[in-house]
This record gives sequence, structure tokens and C-alpha cells, in this order.
Amino acid sequence: MTIQWFPGHMTRAKRQIEDKLKLIDVVLELIDARVPQSSRNPMIDEIVGSKPRLVLLNKADLADPERTAVWSAHFRALGHEALAIDASSGTGVKDIPGKARELLRAKIERQLAKGMKPRPLRALIVGIPNVGKSTLINRLAGRNVAATGDRPGVTKGQQWIRTGSELELLDTPGILWPKFEDPEAGYRLAATGAIKEEVLHIDDVACFILQVMAPEYGNVLKERYGLTDLPEELPDTQSAAEVLEAIGRRRGCLAGGGHVDYEKAAGVLLRDLRSGKLGRITLEMPDN
Ligand code: G4P
Repeated sequence: MTIQWFPGHMTRAKRQIEDKLKLIDVVLELIDARVPQSSRNPMIDEIVGSKPRLVLLNKADLADPERTAVWSAHFRALGHEALAIDASSGTGVKDIPGKARELLRAKIERQLAKGMKPRPLRALIVGIPNVGKSTLINRLAGRNVAATGDRPGVTKGQQWIRTGSELELLDTPGILWPKFEDPEAGYRLAATGAIKEEVLHIDDVACFILQVMAPEYGNVLKERYGLTDLPEELPDTQSAAEVLEAIGRRRGCLAGGGHVDYEKAAGVLLRDLRSGKLGRITLEMPDN
């Protein structure tokens, strides 16, 4: 789904989420475990404020498990709870209510001390397009409830979905815009398929990804594309383009005159990355 985010859309999306926050106990912030920073909304802290937050690193099936553990620790250090999940298969999803309860333990204990019977916790899923919000809602609900193709600024009647545990979920997720101001975040999002390829040149995306992957995942590239003399660093676009050319030659991505078709070669690399054929890869690490 491609959404054109204009300033008006962003303001409306932010306001809608702020309205929903009044109804809930806990925010489930869904991010992509392969690009945990780039797939976060740039204003998320301001929007969510002090509401308890469980950061869900989704698509963990495609991400590097060691790096996912580092990211989870990073989010915990920021004062949130964190959980790696795969909403498609359901891995980790059953742990969400328990983690949410942990976050709200003090509040629940206060209610119990006052003799109140704790009611089910109420949660809202927020995240950028394509991060897996509908998949997760359907998974938690155990049936098809989330309308994929939701647009920012379009509301429908809100309903609570019972998840079969002590957690109720608003059926309409909060759709947030991704980071636009940082071109590298854009490349990372395009590489994972969160931003449509037409927005950026696919060969630029591929060159950037090769530069990111060479130092940490060089062996994977060497093995898959027979790149015996891949350098440990690709310091500039030119050196990355040479590797892309080698991949294209290897894979028979040729244009007229025996020249490599860079777009086709980029398509091969990005398809392999997205489908997990290059293994489980995480394209960024926390800054600190
Ligand atoms: P959204 O509501 O946040 O916009 O995202 P949505 O649930 O529509 O999911 C976007 C894509 O991500 C879907 O793939 C979905 O299957 C996939 N996805 C969601 N969670 C996971 C996960 O944990 N692991 C993996 N590997 N994929 C996940 P699609 O190609 O758009 O559709 P389809 O392949 O399901 O038909």
C-alpha cells in the first residue's frame, strides 16, 4: 500500500492516535525487526507520551536474531518493554498479553489493593504502513478483522476485539508515517518493501544495501552470488555498483550489447533479501 503523506495527513493521523490513547492502557508499537530504527515514526515519543509501551519487533523471522536481542535490550533501556514476534506465523504473539501486564503491574496491583476487580487491559497497535499491523490484529483476534488498505485520516466505528486473554484491542490500528527526512532510512525501508520502489531508484537502493551488508554479511553475499573477491568495505557508490554489476553478470541480468542491466540485478538482490534467501538480516544497529 502506498500512502502519500502530506502535512495535513500527518496532523490528522497524530490527532486520531492521541484521541485513541485516552481509551487504552498500553500502546503496542509495531516496528520491523530488520530496520528497527528506520521503521519507527519520527514523532512516536511525542505522540505516545508517557503511556506504557510495548515495542514489538515484527518480522523477526527475517531478522538477525542476535541483533534483535541487542535491539530489544536497547528499547528496554529506553524504559519500554520489547518483544520479538512473527505475526505471520504467530511466533511470540501469545506472549504479548503477559508482557503488557508486566508493564502495568503497578496499576493492576493498586486496583487489587483497592478491592477492584481488574478489567482486561486495553491496547492500541500503532505503526507505519506495511509493518504488519493488520496481520497482528487478525492473529490476536484469531480471525480476519483488520481491513488492510486503511488510510490515514479515515475513521470507522471503533470496536474492541477480545483476544481470548486479558487483553482487548482497538480494531483500527494507528497508522503512522515513516521517517522521510533521513535518506538512508528511506533506502532501508525501500529495501524491506515498506516504501514502494517507484519512490526511489531501485539500483540506488541496492547499492546502498550492498554497502551496508558488505562488512557484516559479506560471506552471505559471496556465497549466494559467487563474489570471491568481495572487499570488506564498499566505501562509495562506485564500488557498490561494481559489485551489483558482478551480481548481474552472475545472474544473467543483461541488457543489449552484453551490458549488465542494473535494475534487473537490483531486483534480484532485493527479492532475495526480502524473501529471506540471503538469510536473516538486520540492516541497522542502535547508535549508542
Ligand atoms: P499493515 O497492516 O501494517 O499495513 O501490514 P500488513 O499486516 O498488511 O502486512 C504487510 C506485509 O507484511 C504482508 O505481506 C504480511 O503478510 C507481511 N507480514 C506481516 N507480519 C509478518 C511477519 O512477522 N513476518 C513476515 N515474514 N511477514 C510479515 P504482503 O506481501 O503485503 O502480503 P501477503 O504476502 O501476506 O499476501
